[in-house]
Amino acid sequence: MTGELSPIDKAKFAAAKRAVDFVEDGMRVGLGTGSTAAWMVRCLGEMVREDGIRIKGVPTSVRTAELARQVGIEVISLDEAKWLDLTIDGADEFDADLNLIKGGGGALLQEKIVATASDQMIVIADTAKEVGTLGAFPLPVEVIPFGWQTSRALIEEALINLDVMGRDVTLRMNGDAAFVTDEGNHILDLHLKRIGNPRQLSLVINQIPGVVENGLFIDICDVVVVGHGDGRVEVRDINAGTVEEEKIDFLESDNLFTDL
Ligand code: A5P
Repeated sequence: MTGELSPIDKAKFAAAKRAVDFVEDGMRVGLGTGSTAAWMVRCLGEMVREDGIRIKGVPTSVRTAELARQVGIEVISLDEAKWLDLTIDGADEFDADLNLIKGGGGALLQEKIVATASDQMIVIADTAKEVGTLGAFPLPVEVIPFGWQTSRALIEEALINLDVMGRDVTLRMNGDAAFVTDEGNHILDLHLKRIGNPRQLSLVINQIPGVVENGLFIDICDVVVVGHGDGRVEVRDINAGTVEEEKIDFLESDNLFTDL
């Protein structure tokens, strides 16, 4: 069955499959959003159904909650969990310090709260997500609908004094209407091309009235698991300073692909 998956999906699956090895019986686990995280949720569902592992999952979006329930994971809210052992999520970009851009799927607000409320955050990614400098992927910023055009103007003004290469700010659309997040907000995408100082940018953007949160994850991610299309995975641990390489056997996971 894996023969029908594209190399990029195989890479995402390999990263997800390796990352769920970090999950132990009894853990409270943050469940990320996006196509890579969806593989992770399916892998965890398999561990619940077939290995009898007991976990509680805190989803970062409505769509992840639906998938988690479908595959048999017990879903609880973050307020019920209060604190999590681990969060596993995808990313749109990561750099050598494991700083991230997230929010391509529009779930950055819940993702940042959940990851920050976890002992450990593990990012799962294919090799295309690795960058020398963050910023080629547009930075998502969640803003409340009231006065969003004013918030955009204030962001554009703030960008003049910041170390970035591009300054276009666009409202994310869903067809003809503005995209609406799970929290009822809008997303502004900042086309910065290159972010010279992510920490400073994050602080400045979050001080602007109307801004709820931005998609820069600074000093939040502990481990990145990078998957390749041939099943190789690298596990990079920023705290331990280690890099481990392994290979995932796709054949062992064939039952996960039969529902596709
Ligand atoms: C969701 O809001 C995002 O942060 C995703 O985690 C990110 O966009 C990665 O998505 P993919 O795994 O689909 O590339």
